Amino acid sequence: MRPTDAGQQLNPLLPGYSFNIYLVAGTTPIIENGPLDFVIDRQNGMSGFIINMTIKGRGKVFDGDDAFYCNPGDLLLFPPDAKHYYGRAPDSPDWYHRWVYFRPRAYWAHWLKWRNQVNKVGRLTLPDKALINEFEGLFEQIESTYREERRSSEELAINLLERLLIRCFQETPENRVTPVDSRIEEACQYLSRNLSEEVNVEEVARHVCLSPSRLAHLFREQMGVNIVRWREDQRMILAKLLLQSTRTPIAKIASHVGYDDQMYFSRVFRKRVGTSPSEFRRSSDAPPAFCEIPMTPDNLSGFDIQPLPGDTPTSDAHVLGDSQ
Ligand code: FCB
Repeated sequence: MRPTDAGQQLNPLLPGYSFNIYLVAGTTPIIENGPLDFVIDRQNGMSGFIINMTIKGRGKVFDGDDAFYCNPGDLLLFPPDAKHYYGRAPDSPDWYHRWVYFRPRAYWAHWLKWRNQVNKVGRLTLPDKALINEFEGLFEQIESTYREERRSSEELAINLLERLLIRCFQETPENRVTPVDSRIEEACQYLSRNLSEEVNVEEVARHVCLSPSRLAHLFREQMGVNIVRWREDQRMILAKLLLQSTRTPIAKIASHVGYDDQMYFSRVFRKRVGTSPSEFRRSSDAPPAFCEIPMTPDNLSGFDIQPLPGDTPTSDAHVLGDSQ
């Protein structure tokens, strides 16, 4: 729906605009004593999200103990249930900010949970000029694309917004990839080399010279999942690979990836992969000839063993082989 259909008030910078639309983008130039110099006060939030970025001057969000200020390069994300209460900071002659109002696509959920929040309002500060220019450019493109009123311009603006949200996610300090501690790397390698064995956390800890509890803590912090879950993921990755690329009997694959009980292996497989091992094998392309991989540790060292993307951390457990 275009802004002209949206309601009586057709200027989204002024109170009364309906926002009954998927995406609206704009720039609000607030100058002291100018027509836009009022506090934006939406106690019940809005039905969509708003992301904004200060490009000039200073804004003030909330009042009293919750009050904070935003300066050029600061981004804010207001989810629908966040209260809006913001305007020019009294000590600043102006506050210019770019903003995009939007109804998100379902799969964006992950990028919309900002870590740093005050009263549900997400905050992100861009640390340097190059990033500020890049992000301002994105806001500009979203706004100009949305205004184009060409065929599919709304979709294109949504597409650019998706890019902006992903960039915000990437630039969130907590989401930056940090190098993995060498002891954790070694622990992963040790676990990978011994996938078919029931090594316990004490053994891994001894191997990397950490106490079991320190290892469990550090592992989870660095890998995002606990040791048990991580190893289970590796086992499933390897099992899938072997099911897909060999005709090795399922029981043998199960024991090769650490499950002597084929039934238990199938249960875990179904839980993680969503189908049974035999269904998975059937639905994958069968290899042209029988090629059973000789199951030696050397054969496994070449496998690319990585955690599955999007895994949610589960609680730490000290006894391996007992995953929740
Ligand atoms: C404008 C505000 C802007 C944003 C949009 C939806 O009036 O200036 O910050 O809230 O409304």
